[in-house]
Amino acid sequence: MQRADIVEIIGSRIQLKKAGREYKACCPFHGERTPSFTVSPAKGFYHCFGCGVHGTVLDFLMQYDRLDFVAAVEELALRLGLEVPREAGAQRPAGLDPLYALLDRAAGHFEKALRRHPQAIDYLRSRGLDGDIARSFRIGYAAAGWDGLLRELGEDDKTRQQLLAAGLVIGREDGSGHYDRFRDRIMFPIRDRRGRVLGFGGRVLGGGEPKYLNSPETAVFHKGQELYGLYEACQAERRLASLLVVEGYMDTVMLARHGIRNVVATLGTATTGEHLRRLFRIVPEIIFCFDGDRAGRAAAWRALHAALPEIRDGRQARFLFLPEGEDPDSLVRREGAAGFAERMAGATSLSDYLLAELQQQAGTDSLDGRARLAELARPLLEMLPAGVYRELLTDQLAQRVGLPGQRLSAALGEEPARPARKTRQAASARRSGRVSLVGQAIALVLNYPAMAAGLEYPPALATARVKGAALLAELLQLVRDHPQLSAGALLERFRERPEWQHLQALLAVTVPISEDGARAELGDSLLRILAQDREERLALLVARAGTGQLSAEEKAEFRELQRANPHDIR
Ligand code: UTP
Ligand code: MN
Repeated sequence: MQRADIVEIIGSRIQLKKAGREYKACCPFHGERTPSFTVSPAKGFYHCFGCGVHGTVLDFLMQYDRLDFVAAVEELALRLGLEVPREAGAQRPAGLDPLYALLDRAAGHFEKALRRHPQAIDYLRSRGLDGDIARSFRIGYAAAGWDGLLRELGEDDKTRQQLLAAGLVIGREDGSGHYDRFRDRIMFPIRDRRGRVLGFGGRVLGGGEPKYLNSPETAVFHKGQELYGLYEACQAERRLASLLVVEGYMDTVMLARHGIRNVVATLGTATTGEHLRRLFRIVPEIIFCFDGDRAGRAAAWRALHAALPEIRDGRQARFLFLPEGEDPDSLVRREGAAGFAERMAGATSLSDYLLAELQQQAGTDSLDGRARLAELARPLLEMLPAGVYRELLTDQLAQRVGLPGQRLSAALGEEPARPARKTRQAASARRSGRVSLVGQAIALVLNYPAMAAGLEYPPALATARVKGAALLAELLQLVRDHPQLSAGALLERFRERPEWQHLQALLAVTVPISEDGARAELGDSLLRILAQDREERLALLVARAGTGQLSAEEKAEFRELQRANPHDIR
């Protein structure tokens, strides 16, 4: 492994500063104000003198991105443009592989069908697409009729169940079998960074409703996290400098058709923190693209809020507003690649956009207006991680308000202590992306109490040895007993308890925006927590067995745990 890579990989996740032959940063694994985290490219090693964490680039990926070993190897390989060695890949538990394989076969089926249906080809041609782009995005066609896919792939009961789990077919209400979800639609496969098909978007050929149908949330497809075109963008350019975030499938493929390949689309959802963290790991600059109409402006303002916690020195977000009534597809067809690229180059910086927008909201001319501006800016500035960027923005704001930067900072700092701490904690939990598995599960329960109330949870959770599992079990029981409780009411019950602050912070953690997504994720988390519990207990028993201390009872438990070891868990 090349030694310099450790700086690139860690540097794309946290802000590193060169210090002689090494690099320094505030440690991402414990809170600190003066940097004691060092990365040595020569040794290919990182070390924190504050908390003692240390390791190789792989250890860092495992800890910071919360990946297992195999996934960390894969992430590294992706970053370096290497093939993953087969042996490494082979250790991954096989649980979801059949689902991926089936989705891949479905994509192949749709691709083949496209070639056999001239009306679908004609439609794509009429939109200006060519065969090359269709191939590189694996665009296909789901034929009209109720069971084209079902007949080709659903050879037995087991596969039909998998088709259902993959979101490709729907069960008939009377229980008499299944039918294809996607019928008479152009099919856009949504792929993960490794190119595996996770789901699909399907567009009607003419003017039918709904215009786009998307795969439902499944074990592998989470709308609020995936971005259409990310794999294709990474394939097209090894070293991407920026990524443009657009709204539509068609926008992505049409820009690609015109040679603008650094484009991804959200899947009919608002941009989430999860999206942005994913993108910022790949590129230092994100350009958001929105319609110039009111809906577009509202979406941009929401995107700004999602972006603020992710911004820091060396990371940029910019905003591109299109003329009303245009989308990237229509515009690139009208103005060509050069025209569109020029617009991208002229996109507004986050700070300019933020200040202009606030100024408009506040009406700055009067003294009153300027006070309002400072007031409006405060919560937004607080969402930014502390650092040079936050200071710069505070200075810029100070200029507009007509106060020296320091005095403004001081004014902005004058907050009642408790709410300030709360906001910061919440923001930092969200920002760091290092919420534990249990923490994430608790966040899901707090955000979707009604959903969680309907969930069967395993009784073993309450006694699991994983930190926080008992609290999670308590919350799940609480929502079951009182399904009408809101998140706020739930929290209230903990006000006098030591967990209160922590729960408050967790409420702000990013969770899927659909209830289905949240349910799938929560179910998945519960399984994983139990698996983790089993693993820890097994490790303990193995260690004790090594010194010959195992009682008969423990031996029985050991065998039990081994049997229960689930392989259907990621
Ligand atoms: P648009 O309505 O802007 O469509 O939706 P588009 O991408 O420009 O597509 P064309 O040009 O009409 O073919 C933007 C995105 O919103 C989601 C899709 O992800 C779509 O690409 N969407 C839209 C849906 O999920 N369902 C819909 O019914 C419509
Ligand atoms: Mn369009």
